[in-house]
Amino acid sequence: MYHHLSLKSVAYAVAAPTLLYAAFLALLTIPYLQNQAIYLHGVNQTGSLDLNVPEQWGFLRNQVTPFHLHTPDGETLHAWHILPLGLYQQHEDRLVQEPSSGLAPNITQRLSFQLLRDDPDALLVLYFHGAGGSLGSGWRPQSYRGLSAGAPDKIHVVAIDYRGYGTSTGSPSEAALLLDAQTLAAWALNDAGIPPSRIVLFGQSIGTAVSLSLAHSLATDDEKDPVLFSGIVVVAPFADVATLTATYRVGQTIPLLGPVARFPRLLTWLNTWIISKWPSNVRLAELIRACQRIPGEGPKYDVTIIHAEDDYDIPWVHSDMLYWYGVNASSPSGIAYGELEKEKADSRVELGDGGWAVISRSASGVLREQIIKYGLHDRIMSYPVVSQAVVRAFGREKI
Ligand SMILES: *[C@@H]1O[C@H](CO)[C@@H](O)[C@H](O)[C@H]1NC(C)=O
Ligand SMILES: *[C@@H]1O[C@H](CO)[C@@H](O)[C@H](O)[C@H]1NC(C)=O
Ligand SMILES: *[C@@H]1O[C@H](CO)[C@@H](O)[C@H](O)[C@H]1NC(C)=O
Repeated sequence: MYHHLSLKSVAYAVAAPTLLYAAFLALLTIPYLQNQAIYLHGVNQTGSLDLNVPEQWGFLRNQVTPFHLHTPDGETLHAWHILPLGLYQQHEDRLVQEPSSGLAPNITQRLSFQLLRDDPDALLVLYFHGAGGSLGSGWRPQSYRGLSAGAPDKIHVVAIDYRGYGTSTGSPSEAALLLDAQTLAAWALNDAGIPPSRIVLFGQSIGTAVSLSLAHSLATDDEKDPVLFSGIVVVAPFADVATLTATYRVGQTIPLLGPVARFPRLLTWLNTWIISKWPSNVRLAELIRACQRIPGEGPKYDVTIIHAEDDYDIPWVHSDMLYWYGVNASSPSGIAYGELEKEKADSRVELGDGGWAVISRSASGVLREQIIKYGLHDRIMSYPVVSQAVVRAFGREKI
C-alpha cells in the first residue's frame, strides 16, 4: 500500500524539532536553568570520592592540604593547597609524620602552609577551574601537578571550588565567582603573605573569565593601589558569553544557539536574556589600558592565551578574538582584526606539529597566543606547553 505524505505530517515533521528547540530556548530564559547550563554546577563528577582525601587522586600523604576560605558574604569555599613534588621530597619525612592530614581547620598550623609562607622565593599559582565538577574532576588533579613541573621546588598551586561546586556552599553567578576569586587572592596576599609579583593566575574555560575578571578588578579599583600579578595564563578561553553561545556545543554535540546564529537579529535579541556576560575581551583590553596608565618602568602585564585546535567545546577562534582585543588595546591607534591576522601569519613562530605562537610586546607588557594542534578542551591543561607558560609568567625562565 502507498501512503501519501500528507501536507499535515510534513508540517509536523518540520515544526516539531523547531518547537522543541524554541521550548529549549524558552527554558533557558529562566535564570535558574540558565545558570545551570552555563556553570554546570549541578554536574557532580566527584561521585563517592571524598574531596578531603586527596590520596584518592594519587597525591602523596599531606601533599595536598584541603582547607576552607570564607567569603565576605558568608559562603564557605573548599580549597586545595598542592605542594610541588620537588619541595615535597625535601621535606618528605616531616610531611609524612605530621599528626594530622585531610581538611585543615586552621591551615597556618600545617607544614605545607609554612613552606609556602616562609620561603621568600616561593611561587604561587591561583587556579580557577572550568564549569562542572569539582576540584577533583577530570584532568584537574593532573593539571595541578603539571603546573609546577617547570620549577618543582618552587611552584605551589592553590585551587578553589567556587560557590555551588563540590562541597562549597551557595550558588554561582558572575558577581559571586568574582568575589570567590577575590577571596582567594586576599588569602594569598594577606594570610600567606605572597606579594603579587610571585603570583600567577591560571584559568581554564570559564575559569579564564574568572581570572581575567579578578586581574581586571584588582588593577582598576580606584579606591586602592593597583595589584598587578606576575602573569596570567588562560587555557581554552572564550571572548564573551554572547560570542560563546553562538559557537558552544553542549557535550561537544548540541549547539546552544548555533541554529539561530544565522539570524543575527534574533541572536542579538536572545543574547539580551543572558544574565552572565563574562566580557573577557573587554576586561582584557581594559586591564591593558589600565596598566599603560600606571607610571614606572618595567612590565605590568604578562598574559598568555593557549588553545588547542581540536577543542570541540570552545573553538580556538575565541583565542584569536581575545588576542586581538589585547593587541588592539596596547596599540595607540588600534588595529583591525584582519590586519592583525595578516601580521600574525608573517610573524608567528611555527612549531610544526606543535602548532604556532605569536607574541605582542608593548612598553608596559607582553601578550602571547599559542595554538597547539592537539589537546582538546581539558586535557591540554596538564600539557608541558602550559607548564612552560606558567614558568614564563613568573618571569623566571632560568630558575
Ligand atoms: C590558627 O593557628 C595559629 C597558629 O597556631 C593561631 O595563631 C591562630 O590564632 C589560629 N587561628 C584560629 C582562627 O584559630
Ligand atoms: C558532590 O559530591 C561530593 C562527594 O560525593 C559531595 O560531598 C558534594 O556535596 C557534592 N556536591 C554537590 C554540589 O552536589
Ligand atoms: C580598538 O582600539 C581603538 C583605539 O583605541 C578603539 O577605539 C576600539 O574601540 C578598539 N576596538 C575593540 C574591538 O576593542
